[in-house]
Amino acid sequence: MLKIYGALIGVIGFSVFCIVGGFALKGFVADKMDAEESKPVVIYNGAVGANGETVQNKDSLPAVDCNEWNLRLVNKSNPLPEDFSISLVDIGNNKQIDSRCAPDLERMLSDCRAAGCNPLICSAYRTQECQQDLFDREVTKFMNQGFSYDDAYCLAAEGVAIPGTSEHQLGLAVDIVDKGNQNLNDEQANTPTQRWLYENSWRYGFILRYGADKTEITGYKYEPWHYRYVGLEAAQFIYEHGICLEEYLGVCTNAPEVKAPENGQYGYNSSNNNAGFGEYNGDCGYAKIEYSDSVSSDYMDDTMSDGDVFTNDDYDSADFYSVEKG
Ligand code: DAL
Ligand code: ZN
Repeated sequence: MLKIYGALIGVIGFSVFCIVGGFALKGFVADKMDAEESKPVVIYNGAVGANGETVQNKDSLPAVDCNEWNLRLVNKSNPLPEDFSISLVDIGNNKQIDSRCAPDLERMLSDCRAAGCNPLICSAYRTQECQQDLFDREVTKFMNQGFSYDDAYCLAAEGVAIPGTSEHQLGLAVDIVDKGNQNLNDEQANTPTQRWLYENSWRYGFILRYGADKTEITGYKYEPWHYRYVGLEAAQFIYEHGICLEEYLGVCTNAPEVKAPENGQYGYNSSNNNAGFGEYNGDCGYAKIEYSDSVSSDYMDDTMSDGDVFTNDDYDSADFYSVEKG
C-alpha cells in the first residue's frame, strides 16, 4: 500500500514539476522572443520615449533640465541652431573650448599628467566650416575607396558628425589622444592616457561619449578619444550606470538612419538643417529635445593664464591635421 501511495505521490509530483516547468520555460522563451523582437529601450529620468516606451526610473534621478548648457544634447536628431554661439576660451595650439568647462578640463589634464600619462588634445571647438571640411574629406576618403557618393556619405556620418550636429561645435567636446599613439583608432583605448581618462574623467565632469556598446543609440562608432563635458553630477551618474547621454536625458532609442541629400551636396544644407537624415524625428522614433533658450552671442577669445597645462610644448598642430577628424 505504501508503495502505491509513494508511486502516486511521485507521479503527481512529476506532473506538477512538468506543468510548472513548462509554463516557466514558455514564459522564458516568450520573454526572450519579445525582447528580441522589440529591442527594449531603457529610459531613465522619468521621460517617455517617442514611441511610448516604458519608463524605467531606475535610480530616481534628480530632475534634469535639458536646457542646462552642460546637458545640451547635440546628435543626429538634435542639430545646433545656425546662430549658435558661445563664449570660448583659448587652450593653446589654436584650440578653444567653452570657457565654462575649461577649469575642469585643465584639472583633468593636469591630474592625468601627474598620474604619468601624456594626453594631447587633438581637436576641440570646431566652426561649421571646420566640421564641413572634416566631413567632406571623410566622404571623399570613402569615395576614393570606391564607394558611391550615397554610401560614402553614410559611412562618413558613422565617424564624423554631419555639419551642424557635432558636439565639437557645441564647444564641450575634446578629442584627447595619448602622445604614444596619436591615431584615432580602437587601439587608442589601450593607451595609458585613455585608461586613466576612462576611469577618472567623470570626476571632472567629462564622459566618454561614444561607447562601444552604445553605437545604435549614438549613431557613431566607438570613439575612445572623444570626451564630452556634462558637469560633475551627470558625469558621475552616467559613469556609474554605464549609460550614455541620450539614456541619461531620457530620449533614447536608436539613432536615425542617415541618407545622403538627394541634391548631391555634401553635408549641411543651411535652408534645412535636417539634411542628411532619412526620417528626421519621424518613423525612427528618435526623440528630439526642444530648447527654449537663446544662447549668448557673446564671443570671447581670451587666452588662459595657464594655457600650457593643456598642451605639450613640442606639440605641432600640423602633425595632427591628419588625425583631426573624430
Ligand atoms: N566624431 C564626432 C562624432 C564628431 O564629429 O563630432
Ligand atoms: Zn570628437
